[in-house]
Amino acid sequence: MITMVVNGVRRELQSPADTPLLYVLRNDLELSGPQFGCGLAQCGACSVLLDGREIRSCITPLSAASGKEITTLEGLPARWARQKGLSPAESENALHPVQQAWIEEQTPLCGFCQNGMMIKAVELLERVTSPTVAEIKEAFTTSGPSPHLCRCGSYKAIIEAVGRAATAMVEGR
Ligand code: FES
Ligand code: FES
Repeated sequence: MITMVVNGVRRELQSPADTPLLYVLRNDLELSGPQFGCGLAQCGACSVLLDGREIRSCITPLSAASGKEITTLEGLPARWARQKGLSPAESENALHPVQQAWIEEQTPLCGFCQNGMMIKAVELLERVTSPTVAEIKEAFTTSGPSPHLCRCGSYKAIIEAVGRAATAMVEGR
């Protein structure tokens, strides 16, 4: 049995240790945020945070998450609420500033890649409060095992949404 914390909840998983984490999240825990794109760490659609760092869950075995904290797209509002010290009532309808910025910038086109884009943005903005455009581009292209790919070409809107989210996070909104 493997134990990990997913979106703030302790989970005990019976799946084989070499099961891709993506399958466990989607099939066992019914979390539909992370997507199966390439299955080869080449697109970023499956990204989640493992102890605050973006990983590609399609190639990460369940065993690598043992004892660790996983945050998926679904867990971003609670993650932000914890970081801000919001009360349960205050956080009830709150989105993470990255999610809110994605809505305000109307970033998604088909939407398939956007889970990974938002996870990457959160990872970046937790490390760098006001990233430059060059730093944003670097985060989404050369910092991981592969660039985050968007077949719809939403890259410009992503850069603008990251900038909007950065401002909101600095201002504590
Ligand atoms: S599905 Fe994992 S990187 Fe493409
Ligand atoms: S919005 Fe369609 S793949 Fe990115």
